[in-house]
This record gives sequence, structure tokens and C-alpha cells, in this order.
Amino acid sequence: MSTSATRTPLTARRGAALTGTVQVPGDKSISHRALMFGLLTVGRTTITGLLEGEDVINTAKVCRALGARVEQTGPGAWTVHGVGVGGLVQPAEPLDFGNSGTGCRLMMGVVGAHPIRATFDGDASLRKRPMRRALDPLELFGLTVVSQAEGGRLPITTQGPKDAVPVVYESPVASAQVKSAVLLAGLNTPGVTTVIEKEATRDHTERMLTHFGAEVTVTPHGEHGWRIDLVGQPELKPAPVVVPADPSSAAFPMVAAAIVPGSDVTITGVMMNPLRTGLFTTLVEMGAEIEILNARVESGEDVADLRVRGSKLTGVDVPAHRAPSMIDEYPVLAVAAAFAEGPTRMRGLHELRVKESDRLAAVAAGLAAAGVDHTIEGDDLIVAGNGKVPGGGTVETHMDHRIAMSFLVMGLGTTQPMTVDDTAFIATSFPDFTGLMRGLGADFS
Ligand code: S3P
Repeated sequence: MSTSATRTPLTARRGAALTGTVQVPGDKSISHRALMFGLLTVGRTTITGLLEGEDVINTAKVCRALGARVEQTGPGAWTVHGVGVGGLVQPAEPLDFGNSGTGCRLMMGVVGAHPIRATFDGDASLRKRPMRRALDPLELFGLTVVSQAEGGRLPITTQGPKDAVPVVYESPVASAQVKSAVLLAGLNTPGVTTVIEKEATRDHTERMLTHFGAEVTVTPHGEHGWRIDLVGQPELKPAPVVVPADPSSAAFPMVAAAIVPGSDVTITGVMMNPLRTGLFTTLVEMGAEIEILNARVESGEDVADLRVRGSKLTGVDVPAHRAPSMIDEYPVLAVAAAFAEGPTRMRGLHELRVKESDRLAAVAAGLAAAGVDHTIEGDDLIVAGNGKVPGGGTVETHMDHRIAMSFLVMGLGTTQPMTVDDTAFIATSFPDFTGLMRGLGADFS
């Protein structure tokens, strides 16, 4: 963990146009899930394109602690020899998820319907984040929370039931993590487990359940939601996983290219799952010149190369129902909005308050440090936008990788340089962010 003594600040300056072709690392959501499905499958699961960021590496270590053999066989290439649904072993030590809410909440589901005792823990940022949203439904399966820190925070010790009972759960939060925790618990539960979501969230768990041979049915529910039914206690079959490039990481070079005049950047193999493309849709509405090239399907996911050019952006109104499809992209969208002409209103951002940091507060503070007019009205963020951004400030990253990357991108277009106080947490999701951006011409020092 970084302390003030070990912080690694970085400054971004305006320079020449950004140009080149890059591939960003594998999708974080799919990488976590690939390892967990490998653990829950007897036999050898191969994974290529795995994101080797700290969050995912922590999940790999936890899979080992629960009985799997997990090995790296080459860059991004991993094999998992799993123990199967029902076969998890009692972990000897607390499970440490570092900075990762996804790793922790999904694994609570994996472990939750097994008759084992486990302690879940993480870094100072993860210890502040709400875990009851995952524990509440898991208790319905028969899980007992043995101990928890105040407010349902980590460290948390749970004891799983001898015989889990299936549940029908309508999630009060639009969260793919909560949905996935319930479905993963449903795997080691007899009968049918059902999740109902009012707002559709990323569906990687559902897709992977099908890919590994489980019986899942997905039917529309209401205007924007889904009902997911899973038949429990399947024998999952090993299936190779090819991880596409993470659209949430592609977001940084995309916005950088859009705000730096004259830029021309292509990002290859980006996952275009419609439940992840909210930023793409919004940038196109703002007038960003983005071309979709070579659209194809790889391992069951839509992927494409995205060519982004320096663009004149205009402020837009981003509807609240789009939030789940771009929940991790608001910090960098706020950066794009700062460079647009006219106000951008981003609606319904309450979930941003419980990410790796309070992202609404961290984004507002970053905009203030850059001299950008903005207001927060309830759960909405409004960025004034007049096409010019003074910059010249230092942004506190609060152990949040996406705050660090967003404001470094901003500094590539501001009149005065922008500094972020700590880049250490970028390694959780995008280890070579600075190298890749420098390769495009970014001036970071
Ligand atoms: C994720 C879901 C989202 C997202 C996170 C990854 C996932 O969290 O912010 O980075 O892989 O399921 P919520 O489910 O809390 O919205």
C-alpha cells in the first residue's frame, strides 16, 4: 500500500498530437471471472489475454487458497486446475483482495454456499466499501456472518451452510457484483436460483456460466431489466477463455485522443459488449470522431478496433439508465466534458460514491484543481465546459486507479500541467498505462 513516503506522483503536460495503434490489457471483469470459473471446474481451464494487474493477481492467489492449481504459462496465458462446484477447501489464511471490490464480492458468492469458514480482507480503500449488499442475499442461502467491522465492512468472517437453499433475489442496487455473487452462490445450491435486476448490468457472469456448460435462462424484466434463472449444482466443463481488451481501460487513450487536437489513435480488439459501451455512445453523441473498424465476435464477445481522432466536443445530457453500462467511465467522461463546449449533465451517479474512492467527490475535487466550473445537484454532476481547461493543479487520487489515469489524461490537454499525487494504484487495472500512453506521444514526467 502506498503511504505518503512511498507515493509516486506524476505530471502530465500538453504536447504534440497523440498517434499510433495500441492494445490495452485484458478486461478486468472477465479476468476475475475466468479464474473463478476455473476454480469451480474440475480439470484444466486455459485463459489467454488475462489482465495481469494487482486486482486479478489477488484473485488468482485466493483461488489457490481455495484449492486450485493456478499457473502462468506465458504473458497473459494462465491455466487453472480447479476443484469443481462443491469442492472448495477451507482456506488456511484470511483471503486478501487488496484494492478489489469485484474480486471480494464475487468470491463471497463463490465461497458463500460452501460449508467452509473464510475471512475476507483488503486494503484501506476496500475496508471502507460496503459489503452488506453482497452479504444480505448470501444470508438467504444460509450463510452466517461470524464477524464484520462496523457497517458491514471488511474484515469479514463468514461460515457457509452445510446445505444451501436456493433464493429468488431482486437486487435493490444496480450492481453486476451483487448479481454475480448471487449467481455464483447458486452454483453450489440445489434447485433454481433467480436474480431479478431492474437495470441491466454487465452480463459476463451469465455468459461465462453458459460457456462452462451451466443451464441459465435470461428473460426481459420491465423496461430496462432482466430475470436470470440458474439451475444449481451443474458439473462445469473446462472451456478456454480468451479475454478481450478492457473497454474501461480503452477509455483513457480514447478520451486522450479526442481532447488533444490532431490526434489519431487506434485501439485494437476492444470489447464492445452492449452493456459496457455507454462511454462510446456518449462520446459519439458529444461529437467525437470514432470509427468502428473490423467488428467481429471473439469467444462469444463483440470486439472491434476503435480509431479515435482529435475532435470538437459538445456537452450532452447523459441519462441515468445509461450509468450501469459506463459506471467506471464517469471520471474520464468528466475530463472529456471539461473540454467540450457547453454543459454536460451526468445523471444518477449515486453508485460512484462507493467505488475505490468516493469518485463523485474525487472527480469534483480534480475538476476544481483544474479550474473547471462544475456543480453536484443531488446525484447529478454538471460540468460547465467552455472548450478550454486551465489546469495547473494537483489531484488527490485516494487509492483510486481511475482517478489517477483520468486526470493524467486531462493534463495532456490543459493549458498548465496537471499532477496526480500517486500513480501506484494504476497497477491494479492497467500496469503499463504510462508506457502505453508515452508510446502515443504523451508527455508524462
Ligand atoms: C464490476 C461491476 C461494477 C464495476 C466494477 C466491475 C464487475 O461494480 O464498477 O469495476 O466486474 O462485476 P458494481 O457491480 O458495484 O456496479
